[in-house]
Amino acid sequence: MKIRKAKLTDVPNIHRLVNHYAGERIMLPRTLTDIYENVWEFTVVAEEDGRLVGCGALKLYNQEVAEIRSLCVDESLKSKGVGREIMEELLDEAEAFGLKTVFALTVVPTFFEKLGFHQVPRERFPTKVWRDCLRCERYTCCDEKAVTMEIVDRPPKLEKSAAEAAEVSS
Ligand SMILES: CC(C)(COP(=O)(O)OP(=O)(O)OC[C@H]1O[C@@H](n2cnc3c(N)ncnc32)[C@H](O)[C@@H]1OP(=O)(O)O)[C@@H](O)C(=O)NCCC(=O)NCCS
Repeated sequence: MKIRKAKLTDVPNIHRLVNHYAGERIMLPRTLTDIYENVWEFTVVAEEDGRLVGCGALKLYNQEVAEIRSLCVDESLKSKGVGREIMEELLDEAEAFGLKTVFALTVVPTFFEKLGFHQVPRERFPTKVWRDCLRCERYTCCDEKAVTMEIVDRPPKLEKSAAEAAEVSS
């Protein structure tokens, strides 16, 4: 497996992966056009045959804040460290940009908390609420939690991730 920035040819596979979970109502759906327009936000994990098994995006809001979004792993490879690997890559990117804060809205706050995020009221990120939440059909019955991390408080990375281990052993 290889973790890298997304290419245009990955877009249909990113679309398939994200909308699989959107169908289960645990992620926001994204259109092909939206993903093509924002492809540079995406980091992906691909197998040697090109099959995409994970993706995640860093959406910039301003000089200091970005959102982690569309982070997901193929059902067959969940709980093997791939999600953590994508997150670490996105956090490296956030650090390289000089960002101060990253946040996400998620139905799996525990995953984010394991990686150093903590829960906050979503009103802390009004641009997100204004841009996405107010247009969402689940706005009044949303079960997503807002989680955030100050980059300066980022925990040290694990010695070797499961995804790296899988790569070595494959
Ligand atoms: C959430 C998701 C991205 C996690 O990726 P993953 O590869 O399965 O997770 P990892 O194996 O890297 O797990 C990292 C840590 O988080 C924990 N974790 C993973 N998924 C979890 C979940 N659903 N609930 C609680 N903890 C979870 C793991 O136990 C692990 O903890 P550990 O280091 O103490 O062992 C993946 O399960 C997924 O795609 N879910 C559906 C889409 C989704 O909910 N995306 C969230 C962003 S909106």
